Amino acid sequence: MMSKFMEWVDARFPATKMFEEHLSKYYAPKNFNFFYFFGSLALLVLVNQIVTGVWLTMSYTPSAEDAFASVEYIMRDVEYGWILRYLHSTGASAFFVVVYLHMFRGLLYGSYQKPRELVWIFGMLIYLMLMAEAFMGYLLPWGQMSYWGAQVIISLFGAIPVIGADLTQWIRGDYLISGITLNRFFALHVVALPIVILGLVVLHILALHEVGSNNPDGVDIKKKKDENGVPLDGIAFHPYYTVKDIVGVVVFLFIFCFVVFFFPEMGGYFLEKPNFEAANPFKTPDHIAPVWYFTPFYAILRAIPDKLLGVVAMGGAIAVLFVLPWLDRSPVKSMRYKGWMSKVWLLVFCVSFVILGVLGVLSPTPGRTLLSQVCTFLYFAYFILMPFYTRLEKTKPVPERVTG
Ligand code: HEM
Repeated sequence: MMSKFMEWVDARFPATKMFEEHLSKYYAPKNFNFFYFFGSLALLVLVNQIVTGVWLTMSYTPSAEDAFASVEYIMRDVEYGWILRYLHSTGASAFFVVVYLHMFRGLLYGSYQKPRELVWIFGMLIYLMLMAEAFMGYLLPWGQMSYWGAQVIISLFGAIPVIGADLTQWIRGDYLISGITLNRFFALHVVALPIVILGLVVLHILALHEVGSNNPDGVDIKKKKDENGVPLDGIAFHPYYTVKDIVGVVVFLFIFCFVVFFFPEMGGYFLEKPNFEAANPFKTPDHIAPVWYFTPFYAILRAIPDKLLGVVAMGGAIAVLFVLPWLDRSPVKSMRYKGWMSKVWLLVFCVSFVILGVLGVLSPTPGRTLLSQVCTFLYFAYFILMPFYTRLEKTKPVPERVTG
């Protein structure tokens, strides 16, 4: 009965063909480790954001008069509204945790190197769109931090010479952040950007499946195949990795639900304290800081005294990641076989990024500003020096087959 039905479908739509190409006959390296859970987890969080987002939209009102109250209404009166909101707000932070670990895996195993440059570029575009999505979503509850956070970030565009002032007004749609800004951010947050992100995720995975997955050894498994053309070090994604990924999903959901039920505000890091007060254009909060996932870039912005140069540095910190595949000149992919300089620089980069993240939350003092300047310098040095240290250092021989 079922096979008859599939025959009927397959004559009209490539269902079995797609299932085989992307799952049951997609051969992935058999040595995937912990870091390879985060791609499927990113997909899971994406689905969570879309589903909870659709249900939140059913009860949310995108107007300056009613937005804040409608969020309170969702939290107190709508049945299960509180859980929908916490799943969505915790999901936003979880998205960045997962994506940062996913990107770190790329740096660790050289997954951005040839022939995966486009996988990386699509990934970076997703990251950029994700930041825009999170930023616009944060305005929607219309709390004090929503309002003033948006005020700080939008005013940055004002630093651009000649067009700055007009550009900020164009973004806001008004002379100050108002209900008009809220309305357009709502439209972009719930319709436009999710479509773009979904489309980019499809391109990201198509590009990956065209060239095949990298692995912790950075060995090309397609070089050694059996008589049927199946890579000797490859295993079918389905059922082997679908089952393995479910283990990752279960562990992730335990941690995620623990946060949703017991620490949804995460001490003010996931939901900031001033945001429990309605937006008030006449009262600036004492201390404006973006949500934790933006703070490394915010610290870079503040490290540079000149506003325009600060904006350029902040943009540059993200832009430089796009060209990473062309900065790494190493003959090997994985950190396992790179030399000590690559290892030290990756460590320096990660430590600087975390320190910048912490500094971005704190209010500036002369000492902290100096530290953020040092970390900004090291952040960029990692990239700028990469063509040199990856070429100069002595690499270890890469094995013929994956080592497990
Ligand atoms: C919504 C966000 C994202 C989703 C749903 C997603 C999904 C995936 C999936 C399912 C895989 C294959 C499984 C795996 O290797 O873990 C993958 C691989 C990959 N992703 Fe992403 N991704 C996202 C964001 C990003 C970002 C922001 C980057 C980097 C800028 C990135 C870079 C990569 C790379 C380089 C690979 C290949 C890794 C390898 O083969 O070693 N992804 N992604």
